[in-house]
Amino acid sequence: MTLARSTKLTIVGAGSVGSSLAYAALIRGSAREVVLYDIDTAKAEAEVLDLAHGTPFTGASRITGGSDIELVADSDVVVITAGAKQQPGQTRLELAGVNVRILEAMLPQLVALAPHAVFILVTNPCDVLTAVAERITDLPPGRIFSSGTVLDSARLRWLVAEAAQVAPQSVHALIVGEHGDSEFPLWSSATIGQTPLGAWIDDAGRVLFPRERLETLTHDVVNAAYKIILGKGATNYAIGLSGARIVEAVLQDERSILPVSSVLRGYRGIDGVALSVPSIVGAGGVQRVLDISLDAREEELLQRSAEALRSSIALF
Ligand code: 2OP
Repeated sequence: MTLARSTKLTIVGAGSVGSSLAYAALIRGSAREVVLYDIDTAKAEAEVLDLAHGTPFTGASRITGGSDIELVADSDVVVITAGAKQQPGQTRLELAGVNVRILEAMLPQLVALAPHAVFILVTNPCDVLTAVAERITDLPPGRIFSSGTVLDSARLRWLVAEAAQVAPQSVHALIVGEHGDSEFPLWSSATIGQTPLGAWIDDAGRVLFPRERLETLTHDVVNAAYKIILGKGATNYAIGLSGARIVEAVLQDERSILPVSSVLRGYRGIDGVALSVPSIVGAGGVQRVLDISLDAREEELLQRSAEALRSSIALF
């Protein structure tokens, strides 16, 4: 990827998600300058050193970082990954109390240092934090949003691709709603290439995605993070790649359509709640949220997801 001008990406939080995001951004050449900031000096400096040693093998990106908050100054994009992470069996929404407090303490300072940046929240519960963030800053709409269900949609695309034996890039399917337990797939509009999922047949001419299989796939996506957390304590690589991908859409003003989460205003009756729907992402962040065609069941699930998030936001 060629970058026309110098671009500065700051990642807040040098834990497994922040470090993996920095690693993905360096390898993909997402930004010219990548900064990894964390209040833990030793951790931030060690991660930066390890990442920097790999840069002779990456594109033209530089990595710096540490625990000096001034490092954030003049960033074009700030990705926030700092906060408590899920313990095995814990839901994302259960992290809201502690992570809202961390965000409230940190965000005003970050915005003051990088007033023109686009802010992308990755910390969970990312939808709740997005709604809180919009309330405590006066950033224009769309300049603060979260990675939402970009990762969950990637999980879905991979699972469908494995079943159909095609490239995941050729699967067009979205998870929308909360990045969490109430999320759901838009089966009614999912396609493999141009073929609706329901019409996809295997080599023997059998329908590959009957209703029971769709239910299993939904279950596997919704529970993917729980499974990974049980095995290794956290998820990091795929969220790192998802984050880097979103950063590129902003820095390159791609106007790519991605299922990110921003505060909705009068969207199918949803107001003041952040959740993921397909959105145009480019310079300045979320430029537009797009309406989607939903069947009756999907409409019900969207409203249910919004209600789950509304109840959680009401606590703050
Ligand atoms: C994930 O879905 C835990 O939200 C994180 O991987």
